[in-house]
Amino acid sequence: MEMETEYCFRHKHILGLEDLSCDDISFILQTAESFREISSRPIKKVPILRGKTIINLFFEPSTRTRLSFEIAAKRMSADTFNISASTSSAKKGESLIDTALNLQAMSPDAIIIRHSYSGSPHLLAKHINASIINAGDGFHEHPSQGLLDMMTVKQRKGTLQGLKIAIIGDIAHSRVAHSNIIGFSKMGAHVYVSGPATLLPPGIEQLGAKVCRTVEEAVTDADVVMALRIQKERQLDPLIPSWREYASFFGISSRLLEKSKPDAIIMHPGPMNRGVELDPALADGPRSVILDQVTNGVAVRMALLYLILGGDR
Ligand code: CP
Repeated sequence: MEMETEYCFRHKHILGLEDLSCDDISFILQTAESFREISSRPIKKVPILRGKTIINLFFEPSTRTRLSFEIAAKRMSADTFNISASTSSAKKGESLIDTALNLQAMSPDAIIIRHSYSGSPHLLAKHINASIINAGDGFHEHPSQGLLDMMTVKQRKGTLQGLKIAIIGDIAHSRVAHSNIIGFSKMGAHVYVSGPATLLPPGIEQLGAKVCRTVEEAVTDADVVMALRIQKERQLDPLIPSWREYASFFGISSRLLEKSKPDAIIMHPGPMNRGVELDPALADGPRSVILDQVTNGVAVRMALLYLILGGDR
């Protein structure tokens, strides 16, 4: 995309894709593409964030997001530190703001936070001076996941404009779904969602998604089919009768995929319940880009850290 010559990335925090413009998203994806090559060098390190201090503050489990933020920061020579809920003084009753103020007293440049409460990164951004990156807040947003998903689709399809993106599953509890609906819609794609009625939140159309009554309708002629994890930990009462029934009605199978475009790609943000949300043969097959999503996660997170801490504001 041609950038206006006066374009400047001006964000101190990355709290959600709702705050980013199309130009911002394009610029982040371009920057991430330029960083991708660093991860294939024999010496995977550049000095551009030398002297910067980055704290990973994760109150929920994570494999991909936490590690890829840490790898991204280290590949740019920043100093990184990890705190998890089980090892922090939150266990002793310290409030989130008090924890953040104490971290602030040690002069970090950025805090990356994952928390079960929607809006917790926004709360931190109001109270402390460091840049805040939202690594997933409750049901709300997971902006770096949305960006790496857009990067992955753009690599395969060349553009996001006009694509049909089908997102299937637990839309209600999925911050990934929310960021992807916002991001892909902003970039000119058409997002269709489907899943059990108990997992489709009212008002989701307002984010830009079209709600389909059947999975078949969502997947028909899709360029991208994205399965979501069933978020059992966020369901107070069981909202699906059983895994087996979910798999047979809403799991992505070869039969269902026949309705999509012949070159449709399959995505899943992970972690995956194998055989429930997605047929394992599809997850491991040639149309799956699930591990490309993980690889792109490092490049996107390098771009975010660079842009908020060291790059062109
Ligand atoms: N996609 C994602 O957020 O994965 P993790 O929970 O492993 O970070």
